[in-house]
Amino acid sequence: MSRVAIGNNKGGSGKTAVTVNIAHALARAGKRVLVVDMDPQANASRRLGWAYDPTDPKPTLVEAIQAGTEGIAAHAISTIGWQTEYAERIHLLPSRFDLENRVSEAAVLGAVSRLDRALDGADDKYDITLIDCPPSLGHLTQLALAAANVALCTVEPERDGVDGAVRFRDFIELNRLELKNPDLRLIGAIPCRVRSGINAHEHHMNQLPALFPGLVWESIPERAIIKDASDEALPLEALGSRTNEIISVYAELANRLLQELHA
Ligand SMILES: Nc1ncnc2c1ncn2[C@@H]1O[C@H](COP(=O)(O)OP(=O)(O)OP(=O)(O)O)[C@@H](O)[C@H]1O
Ligand SMILES: [Mg+2]
Repeated sequence: MSRVAIGNNKGGSGKTAVTVNIAHALARAGKRVLVVDMDPQANASRRLGWAYDPTDPKPTLVEAIQAGTEGIAAHAISTIGWQTEYAERIHLLPSRFDLENRVSEAAVLGAVSRLDRALDGADDKYDITLIDCPPSLGHLTQLALAAANVALCTVEPERDGVDGAVRFRDFIELNRLELKNPDLRLIGAIPCRVRSGINAHEHHMNQLPALFPGLVWESIPERAIIKDASDEALPLEALGSRTNEIISVYAELANRLLQELHA
């Protein structure tokens, strides 16, 4: 079992796109994946085709963290809305805007371990658990980092995107003992939304290997098709053969992740 937290202290850097599309790639490769939506924006939940139904309310990650008891997350895990045969290999711990209410519990003794406890036993049957973090280093990201075995960061190759990735990396280094997760480590930095012909992008792409030695993974180019799939809550594949190029980039990233995790 391997839990991977995906973060960056900069919004819009491609965290959720990486989470959803690597989940897609892993499921196509036959792996069972749990996506944990640790962001009150709930973008991963929506993009995977999940919607909260007020006429038939079901528990979400919000209730699982509030309880924080061992394995309670199993009661909130849902199937996703994609209509493909491999979609059944992706399950979701969905989120809602009221995940924000969990932040006020940060000062409660042991609160940082609530996701870890809630997942304990609940994600044993998955090959990989991907945790999509919000663009902050606050309590919700700390819950993810306390529960994860390893972390990945996205990096948009612009000054603010690189700074956000460095802050995420340094936060892990500085706080893993406080998070009661001394073995937590960053295993990769994924350049996202990379555009050619832009000086800033070329400059920062050249700097990344020195900032993240041995950790820079395959780059994801900026492609409108990724936005289209996100917008329509569809797997990339559903948008036809023009997605082949980008599907193979995410497949390569998924392979790298499996190698790193020996999964
Ligand atoms: N490689 C890409 N090419 C084009 N658009 C992309 C790419 N990656 C992500 N996007 C789009 O850019 C926007 C931001 O991406 P995404 O939501 O994945 O970032 P995020 O880091 O999760 O954001 P937040 O910090 O708000 O959670 C979305 O509209 C998404 O569809
Ligand atoms: Mg996001």
